[in-house]
Amino acid sequence: MTEQVAAPISLGRLASSAALIGWVPVAMFLALGVGRWLDPALALLGAGVTVLGAWLVAWIWLSNLARLATVLRRASEGHGEALASPGPPMLPAMRDVAEATARLARSLDERSALVGRLRRADAAILENLPDPLFVLAEDRTPLRANRAARLLFGVPVADMRPLAGDTGALLRHPALAGAVDRALLEGSVQAVDIVLPVPVSRELAAQVIPLDPPLLDGGRLVVQLIDRTRERAVERMRADFVANASHELRTPLASLIGFIETLRGPAEDDADARRRFLGIMAEQSERMRRLIDDLLGLSRIELTEHQAPTGQVLLAELARSEAEAMVPILARRSVHLDLALDDAALATPADGEQLAQVLRNLLENAIRHGREGGTVRLVVRQMKGDRPGAVMEITDDGPGIAREHIPRLTERFYRVDKGRSRGAGGTGLGLAIVKHIINRHRGQLVIESEEGHGATFRVWLPSAVGAG
Ligand SMILES: Nc1ncnc2c1ncn2[C@@H]1O[C@H](COP(=O)(O)OP(=O)(O)OP(=O)(O)O)[C@@H](O)[C@H]1O
Ligand SMILES: [Mg+2]
Repeated sequence: MTEQVAAPISLGRLASSAALIGWVPVAMFLALGVGRWLDPALALLGAGVTVLGAWLVAWIWLSNLARLATVLRRASEGHGEALASPGPPMLPAMRDVAEATARLARSLDERSALVGRLRRADAAILENLPDPLFVLAEDRTPLRANRAARLLFGVPVADMRPLAGDTGALLRHPALAGAVDRALLEGSVQAVDIVLPVPVSRELAAQVIPLDPPLLDGGRLVVQLIDRTRERAVERMRADFVANASHELRTPLASLIGFIETLRGPAEDDADARRRFLGIMAEQSERMRRLIDDLLGLSRIELTEHQAPTGQVLLAELARSEAEAMVPILARRSVHLDLALDDAALATPADGEQLAQVLRNLLENAIRHGREGGTVRLVVRQMKGDRPGAVMEITDDGPGIAREHIPRLTERFYRVDKGRSRGAGGTGLGLAIVKHIINRHRGQLVIESEEGHGATFRVWLPSAVGAG
């Protein structure tokens, strides 16, 4: 507790106060002495005692008032201490006033501490809400941005100033500016969807909430943003996927319908045409079957993608049996398959059936999209060191893939050369399936290629336990 120091009482003030209190009796004593109504010595004594008494009363009053003034001053500064300082005894009435003042100051103090705590709690809630939030003043200047907003606009999280980064572009956005105007005019919440093109395209849903009365810092509007970029991309992907899948199915279906009509009509009695058309129809139906199988496979893999596999797979064994199964396709394209298999290579945890599909899809691609009469090399090896795991690598010496296509190869239905791939019987789902299987295994797919110099597809799979 702070010591309450009363201002020293000046001698002049003490003298004038004492004079004010004692001049009437002193004058009376002196008059009585001069008029001989009282013994002059007695009159002088009476006047002297009166002066002393007046001096004492003045001193007690003045020091009491000085202490009261100190208590009031401290209370006005927000301190509610009780009277603690040494000094002359306080008159009971004075003491009551001083204590009541101190109590009042203490309760005001507690209340302002409570308000402070509530404000800090409000600020903490705003700061930690998961959605980006801005607080704007009446004149639209941003006053505050929470952590999510600073993250969204690349402002350093520790930097509380909201104007850095791209917030300027956001606040100048005509749709948002319009919503802010309407919110202020109508006093109601306004919702608006905006697209910010820079630095990366973002789709945001904004809610503008007017505040009445305004916040203590002058905040008049809260702008809440919800980043819908990912959601919209997923929606678009889903729509694209359905469109692509139906398109891929429609083409062979249209050709089947066409041939059926021809066989029923003009080519009804043409045995030669019938044989030819039935061959094409079988091919188209096979294509549709493969597409449906791939789609079903893909959705099955997606469903289990978050569950880690449980088995162990010796990759050399798996590679040998898949290589054998490729013999007919290899022969058709006169491709030579070169194997370099390390028997120790072990993938764990792993799903043998799914890894076989990865090998199948990658080998088929190398053979079908590689060079006719070329060589495909399949390497399986164990990796030690800081990234222990097993690697499967498939390299061909075909035309390769241009750099701009590489990041998109694992998208569904993405084909570098649609016509050629479709001609080769491809649906464009093979690498999408590979990617999902590798994701489920928490592995990695690296594609390296240079146009005209073949392509390498490298799959890294973690081994939880050392090589067996
Ligand atoms: N080894 C490769 N060399 C050159 N291009 C390749 C190679 N592997 C894949 N590609 C290109 O990547 C595209 C996508 O491959 P993906 O396996 O996903 O589909 P696909 O082979 O066309 O059809 P699917 O495998 O579903 O039958 C192919 O269409 C092809 O253009
Ligand atoms: Mg393929």
